[in-house]
Amino acid sequence: MAFGWIDDQAELRRLAGLVRTLRPRPADSPLLDLASNDYLGLAHHPEVVEGAAVAARTWGGGSTGSRLVTGTTELHAQLERELAEFTGFEAALVFSSGYAANLAAVTTLAPHGSLIVSDAGNHASLIDGCRLARGATQVVGHADPDGVRKALRTHDGPAVVVSDSVFSVDGDAAPVGALAEASREFGAGLLLDDAHGLGVLGEGGRGAPHAAGLAGAEDVVVTVTLSKSLGSQGGAVLGPARVIDHLVNAARTFIFDTGLAPAAAGAALAALTLLRREPERAARARAVASELYTRFTAAGLEAVRPDAAVVSVRAPSPEAAVQWAADCRTAGLAVGCFRPPSVPDGISRLRLTARADLSGAEIERAVRVIGETRP
Ligand SMILES: Cc1ncc(COP(=O)(O)O)c(C=O)c1O
Repeated sequence: MAFGWIDDQAELRRLAGLVRTLRPRPADSPLLDLASNDYLGLAHHPEVVEGAAVAARTWGGGSTGSRLVTGTTELHAQLERELAEFTGFEAALVFSSGYAANLAAVTTLAPHGSLIVSDAGNHASLIDGCRLARGATQVVGHADPDGVRKALRTHDGPAVVVSDSVFSVDGDAAPVGALAEASREFGAGLLLDDAHGLGVLGEGGRGAPHAAGLAGAEDVVVTVTLSKSLGSQGGAVLGPARVIDHLVNAARTFIFDTGLAPAAAGAALAALTLLRREPERAARARAVASELYTRFTAAGLEAVRPDAAVVSVRAPSPEAAVQWAADCRTAGLAVGCFRPPSVPDGISRLRLTARADLSGAEIERAVRVIGETRP
């Protein structure tokens, strides 16, 4: 039977406790949300929602075409100027998602004959970029600048070192300064995915590269998503103008994809304006993460010290993680549940996000529920 093999795979997934299901979320969900990536609590902020609404009324429901045909509006150009200005890079290019931005950056910066040096804990979209690139990939240990040096030493030709700046599963930060040093020793470029750093790390949320003094460097390229701290949707690549021009001409996920919806661009612009006005939101998200970590470890839970707004708590098995998350939900708390194959090391966890807008009482409730439902 056509597709009959799917049933065999489904059975294997079921036996391993790895079945995934969709659970549509109602608009008025009563759950306390520690599962989303809305780190600054901006997705529902009236100014962000209004930014989306005005953009949709002005420019329409969709961007109507590829960025190179009709899909570039003045709003897209304004968003690109704002993103570049805010993060300290010369230029920016907006994509329909962070995933598309990562595919674009990795594939266009790793031509035939080049080497990509990729951290073992990198996000799936960077890994897929490596798979699609013409260059060869060498995976190195997690957060290992000496491993990067060793890989670069063996290669003659263009090279790019690729790393998340904050890892999405455990929330630990990459040694970005040391990675830049290692890359520079060998004349390689550095590509950082700052999906979890933008809005949380650096001065007023300008991101991990800004915090490390790498903003605007001619050998550093950064990708971001608009769908986490900025409470919108979409992605961007930031870097030197010559790199951005190269992407416009060579990135397939830019050329063959419809431009970002105007509403998403308008929402992201409004969020950036808000963040400039209320820079303390970034520090608050970090402080909430730190408090959650301190409280969890004091309660004897095994958590990873957070470098940004992601707090990861270990579970004994995939089944226990799923049950733990379900019990939290029953008790009114939404948490993320990460299991293989979404975790690089096979360890299942609860993944909690420290939102800047959580109140003291909400933090209290989250800590209590997670402690009471622990396996
Ligand atoms: C590290 C990282 N990079 C890229 C992405 C993809 O961004 P987007 O959701 O905008 O496609 C995500 C998550 O979604 C992520 O966690």
